[in-house]
Amino acid sequence: MTNLIILGPPGAGKGTQSKQLEKKLNVIQLSTGDMLRAEVASGSDLGQDAKGIMDVGGLVSDDLIIGMISKRVGQKECANGFILDGFPRTVPQAEALSEMLANKSLKLDYVIELTVNDEAMVERICGRYTCSKCGAGYHESFQKPAEDGVCDKCGGKDFSRRADDNAKTVRARLEAYHEQTAPISTFYAEIGILKQVDGMMSIEDVTHQLENIVS
Ligand code: AP5
Repeated sequence: MTNLIILGPPGAGKGTQSKQLEKKLNVIQLSTGDMLRAEVASGSDLGQDAKGIMDVGGLVSDDLIIGMISKRVGQKECANGFILDGFPRTVPQAEALSEMLANKSLKLDYVIELTVNDEAMVERICGRYTCSKCGAGYHESFQKPAEDGVCDKCGGKDFSRRADDNAKTVRARLEAYHEQTAPISTFYAEIGILKQVDGMMSIEDVTHQLENIVS
């Protein structure tokens, strides 16, 4: 079993790299952003509460997020391990995760932080789009499909963009990251399990570095 966290600001490549490691380690990616977007799409009360906050780039309440993640960690789908993407995002979330894992007799193997330059993140996020059919991620400059307008994975031709992927909201998300999420690096550095990888390298080079750490 391998349990890890991928940390980093919006656009650092957490989702992109989690998908690669998911295949390599045969573990499951648990993305709180994806879970929240699914709640918004379903029109649930939780989704309606979260939507207004996500649209302006703020952070959803710790209690709501911790409740959502505790229903997933330790379940059958995590039998081989998990990659947490987008969680924890505050020190109270990190503390709640430690308690949750201890109660389930689980431990974290790696916490890997992708270090990046904020300005480049605006370009990365504003150029991102996703296949509407299978969810595969692309980028206008950095990750194009082999055939223009056709998804490499499923052949789908419809693509969508996230509601919060605009320059104004990205700047607010970066601000929230520096104020509320950056202290988590210190939290894990003090426990001695934090590793950092330069997230400004190409997608392939970042994947290679991550694979070296986890193999
Ligand atoms: P969430 O969905 O987690 O968004 P985020 O953290 O802002 O991260 P992103 O998904 O935007 O970026 P990423 O690092 O995954 O980058 P990606 O790999 O796609 O959260 C959304 C919202 O939900 C939050 O704002 C908040 O409101 C709420 N929320 C979620 N979790 C929460 C929590 N725990 N607590 C409270 N609120 C929470 O890459 C971006 C693009 O760049 C892609 O197009 C990719 O192709 C490209 N790219 C990736 N790597 C590279 C590279 N090395 N070189 C060039 N291009 C690259």
